[in-house]
Amino acid sequence: MSDALYLRNGTLLQPASDQQMPGDLLVVHGLVRAMHKGESGALDEEARQCAAEIIDCTGLTVAPGLIDAHVHLREPGQTHKETIATGTSAAAAGGFTTVVAMPNTTPVTDSVKWLRFVQAPERCAAVRVLAMPAATVGSMGQELTDYEALQKAGAVGFTDDGKPVLEDNVMRAALVAAARLGLPISQHAEDTRLTAGASMNAGPVSFRLGLRGMTVEAESGIVERDIRLLEEIEQTERLRPHLHVQHVSTAKALHAIRDAKARGLHVTCEVSPHHIALTDEAIAGEAMQGSVRYDTRFKMNPPLRSAEDRDACIAALLDGTADIIATDHAPHAAWEKNVEFERAPNGIVGLETALGVALRVLQGKHGLSLGRTLALFTSNAAAVLGLRDLGAIATGAPADLVVFDPGAAYRYDVGTSVSRSRNTPFHGAPMLGRIDFTIAGGRVVFRR
Ligand code: DOR
Repeated sequence: MSDALYLRNGTLLQPASDQQMPGDLLVVHGLVRAMHKGESGALDEEARQCAAEIIDCTGLTVAPGLIDAHVHLREPGQTHKETIATGTSAAAAGGFTTVVAMPNTTPVTDSVKWLRFVQAPERCAAVRVLAMPAATVGSMGQELTDYEALQKAGAVGFTDDGKPVLEDNVMRAALVAAARLGLPISQHAEDTRLTAGASMNAGPVSFRLGLRGMTVEAESGIVERDIRLLEEIEQTERLRPHLHVQHVSTAKALHAIRDAKARGLHVTCEVSPHHIALTDEAIAGEAMQGSVRYDTRFKMNPPLRSAEDRDACIAALLDGTADIIATDHAPHAAWEKNVEFERAPNGIVGLETALGVALRVLQGKHGLSLGRTLALFTSNAAAVLGLRDLGAIATGAPADLVVFDPGAAYRYDVGTSVSRSRNTPFHGAPMLGRIDFTIAGGRVVFRR
């Protein structure tokens, strides 16, 4: 039976060039087989012969499927929070067709064996799952994992996410080894020697609530150190290492990254949707009226920061200092989160709300064009991860597509979530842009 899809009469969006045009797409055997730009109908005859389904895209935008460089799918070992099947279903519902799985699983994904486990067909992933295995054995920050073997098995970079690589000599060795293979080291920038016992951002709100805070410098200090290492390696090793900084949350770290980029170093970074939409005041909630929220759905690492830091994250996405948006989708079970604020695990789910939050904040409030907003999830993400055939709509490329109504405003209802966990701060929050279809590898993996 034919597996062909005909997407008729949509607006095709090419994020890299910020161009939109009316058009039709014919998808056969997982690839974009034909693209017609202009008045609809030119592919009708060809489509009639083979299309198993015609998707009427009238009034809808057809964009490359979204790519998330940072998700926690919790397999192996933490399937009460999420599985690869449920996490990738949430990805599909959020318009994502490629996700990069983090290695802080149980056991840590630090070997070819566990990388293969994550990518095995038996995991029943709804979308493409790539992986960044651990940069060091057990993510203990001491001994490098086998980068060459892991790259051969499909690794797109290395990270000890959830933990930073703290030791200078280990981080240096990691950057050198990854540079030899042309892959990035993706760093969770937190000097954990300064953050022990902290559960939120350090500032007036943590002071008011009596919670120990993480300083801005705990983030920026590691970013500055890593940039110094990049520079030193470039000068001494004739290599061009690639540092990717995860979920940057502070103006100070962004300042260092902006400066490093201006000096030509290969630094890229991501910002997460919650850091452009919320501040640490959300944890206090109604504090001013006498009742404090201490809601653990607002607890993640790095934490929600001050309004100045939030604005710096937005400015960095607008001016290109931040390359991409990544969700840091971090599911936790309700019973794990329903404890005192200081004892609750860090993390929030984010795959199903990322586009809605980003469009509301960046396009709705700050006037960033639709194409440039989508580029943060598509062409830029493909460039950061070195995924040459993803991030654009192209004849012959994988048919990874999202079909959505960019003007649809609505409030998010976590009751619609297909993730195994519900730890979102965005229940009831306004969203912009409603997803109608997600097509991954030519298959409809989500339809509203
Ligand atoms: O909020 C977070 N959750 N930050 C991290 O660094 C790890 C993640 C998790 O795995 O839950």
